[in-house]
Amino acid sequence: MTTPPAPKYRRELSSFVALNTALAQQKLVWDSKPYFLEYSTNSSCNLRCKMCPQSEELPMVSTPRDKREELLDQLLPHATILTPSALSEPLLNNMKTLIPKLQEHQVSLNIITNGALMTPEVLEMMLPHIHQLTFSIDSQIKEIFEMMRSPANFEEVTEKARLSVARCKEVALPVTIHMVLVADNVPHLEGFVDYVVDDLGAHDITVLELLDSTNDFDQLDAFGVHGEEVVGAALEKMRARCEERGVNLRIEVHAPHGQEFTYYDQPARINSAAIMDIMHVELAKSHLGFCPHVMGYLKVEPDGEAFPCCRGPRELRLGNVIEDGFEAVWNGEPMQRLRKQMFEGNLPKVCQGCAVLEAPKWFK
Ligand SMILES: C[S@@+](CC[C@H](N)C(=O)[O-])C[C@H]1O[C@@H](n2cnc3c(N)ncnc32)[C@H](O)[C@@H]1O
Ligand code: SF4
Repeated sequence: MTTPPAPKYRRELSSFVALNTALAQQKLVWDSKPYFLEYSTNSSCNLRCKMCPQSEELPMVSTPRDKREELLDQLLPHATILTPSALSEPLLNNMKTLIPKLQEHQVSLNIITNGALMTPEVLEMMLPHIHQLTFSIDSQIKEIFEMMRSPANFEEVTEKARLSVARCKEVALPVTIHMVLVADNVPHLEGFVDYVVDDLGAHDITVLELLDSTNDFDQLDAFGVHGEEVVGAALEKMRARCEERGVNLRIEVHAPHGQEFTYYDQPARINSAAIMDIMHVELAKSHLGFCPHVMGYLKVEPDGEAFPCCRGPRELRLGNVIEDGFEAVWNGEPMQRLRKQMFEGNLPKVCQGCAVLEAPKWFK
């Protein structure tokens, strides 16, 4: 008689303990597995946002149909939370085939969406599996929103987000609103807080620092256009408005602006995904300087190319999961080299100053 595999929660806990040991003993080959997985079967998007590389007409990549199931069966047994994106729109995944796989492997979803394709039916299908739902809406001002998120329609996305927030409230699932900080939205940050509460019914905002990903970066760069002081003062006014209106605010922007403020007591669903998120944050805080993504995150592009973080810099390529298999990627030479560099504080150039690496210091 063959022994059945250990239940998922046991494997998750054993893996996390193994990760603690690997970090404490500065091991290069790890028994732990990545609990955060970023993988989408395709890299398509329905929008062409001005600040996103999609606006530069990236070639669309997708996993060959006959490889999809095999790839998911390699990756999902280890994962706790799946972000089904490849610098793309997650709702362009085929949820009807993905969800049974998530059920089979007990994996939760982290959905960060532009909202344009969200319908009550799509939300209902995903709802039992969602750990975190985020809408990316960069402005409450129609002209700015539509300038940034072409060809989305402001009223349509607002309505879809509003309906989703209301439905999520019924099942105690908090919804976050992402805004990318750009020169145009800096003068309107307080109004954004009011829009999030009054028009969307949400109480959680994350402000993202603009990455230099397109030719429009200089024109959009809030700090380049307004200067550190003006942006800092605008963020402080935004914080004060969040306090007044009872909105949680996370500012993922370089020091000294990066901070986290809790002004709303969110009811949370406690499950493996929520616990893993909490343990991950605690671990990151106790190993400052070692990138939290390198600890437990694996990004696999639709063609199988794998990276240790969400930004997928080519210099940090780990290998190809379709060609080499998961283990060769997770404990291969490039990954061992990166772990060694992290332990020695000898960071690859691309990691220096990265918000993911720095955030545990800001939020400590
Ligand atoms: C690449 S998108 C993919 C998910 C989905 N398509 C969306 O827009 O929400 C993930 C997040 O990155 C943000 N983003 C896009 N371009 C960015 C940039 N240049 N700098 C920082 N964040 C950016 C988006 O607003 C979104 O919240
Ligand atoms: S930010 Fe999201 S919605 Fe906009 S183009 Fe990029 S992937 Fe698409």
